[in-house]
Amino acid sequence: MVLVNILALAIAYGWAVFASDTLDSSYSTGLSRLEKIESMYAWEGFVYDIESCRSTYEMTQDFNEMKAHGARVVITFEFCGTGADVGYYDDVITAAGNAEISIIPLAWTLPIHAVGQSYGPNDTFLIKSVPRIEAVTQAVINNPEPVLAIAIGDEPLYDDDAGSPAALASYINQVRRNLSIAGLDIPLSISDLAYGWQSSGNITPVADAVDFFMVNNFPYFAFDATTGGNASSSWNDFIQDIEYFQSIANGRPILVTQTGWPTNEDEFAPNSPDIVASVPSSEGYWNLLDSFCEDYFKSMNIGWMWRSWEDDIDGWGVKYLNGSDKWHWNARTEC
Ligand SMILES: *[C@@H]1O[C@H](CO)[C@@H](O)[C@H](O)[C@H]1NC(C)=O
Ligand SMILES: *[C@@H]1O[C@H](CO)[C@@H](O)[C@H](O)[C@H]1NC(C)=O
Ligand SMILES: *[C@@H]1O[C@H](CO)[C@@H](O)[C@H](O)[C@H]1NC(C)=O
Ligand SMILES: *[C@@H]1O[C@H](CO)[C@@H](O)[C@H](O)[C@H]1NC(C)=O
Repeated sequence: MVLVNILALAIAYGWAVFASDTLDSSYSTGLSRLEKIESMYAWEGFVYDIESCRSTYEMTQDFNEMKAHGARVVITFEFCGTGADVGYYDDVITAAGNAEISIIPLAWTLPIHAVGQSYGPNDTFLIKSVPRIEAVTQAVINNPEPVLAIAIGDEPLYDDDAGSPAALASYINQVRRNLSIAGLDIPLSISDLAYGWQSSGNITPVADAVDFFMVNNFPYFAFDATTGGNASSSWNDFIQDIEYFQSIANGRPILVTQTGWPTNEDEFAPNSPDIVASVPSSEGYWNLLDSFCEDYFKSMNIGWMWRSWEDDIDGWGVKYLNGSDKWHWNARTEC
């Protein structure tokens, strides 16, 4: 009799009560993941490079430290080993769970590492990237609770990783199908630049395949860039890109998954002759973003995540590789 009543309830509430994607107490806000993303604004957290294959223990420590500063979300960057090891993504998600921080695992779809590598004959999307997408999908199925969303690629349109937007979309949809078979409904997107979308021809299949828009937004690369804290260049460039995403989002949520300003020009060269890459410039950009908390991010319901946590993306961290802070960074998480 009790069982019958529970089943009746489950049917009344649409079975979702039994599905494993209901967030447990540490993540629960009574909202679905997509609703949670929609409600997010202000500074949310960091881009976290996993190329150095830190242990679960080390990652838990990093995530705890971020969380102590108010971070709520981490997105991964790069990959450990071949990037196709389910076990390593299990470790990343476990560490996020330990720290009770939300994680966005990113499947690295560029067949090579970003910088200083040339392509060999095996460095193709099918050989290198697809196994990474499969590994991330499997790890999320293994332990979905800490996972807020999945990124299928960092700038996959900008770099044309999959060969066409339609091919990329078919993999996004394959991930969705596999999650769905596992009883999961986890928001999917790609983390890309406005320019990546704008320069990729028929983007409709990808625009239709994503649940929301993860934005890479880097005024540092603009042709009129000067100092990070210069509101008339940095901020104008930032909002111009957001306006483009708003024009294609059709009301779907937008989350700036990657923004930042480096303290040196070593890893990614700028396009402006007047660029200033320094600690004060980086700090100025951070504070500029924070200063628009109520007037922009809150009213637009847009969160931002800083690239990067440490200088393993050379120059881009709020911390040096030795772990010391570059400046006393701190941002509001509400306003
Ligand atoms: C490409 O992969 C094949 C099959 O695994 C392997 O035999 C070959 O050595 C690889 N080529 C290079 C250049 O790594
Ligand atoms: C989806 O599941 C199928 C069947 O198990 C598998 O062959 C495929 O690689 C999976 N794709 C992804 C992206 O996980
Ligand atoms: C700020 O940016 C504007 C527009 O690019 C530029 O004219 C101005 O010189 C910059 N100010 C500083 C202090 O760099
Ligand atoms: C960490 O590295 C930075 C940059 O090289 C240096 O300025 C700073 O003194 C170092 N901090 C410690 C505690 O070693």
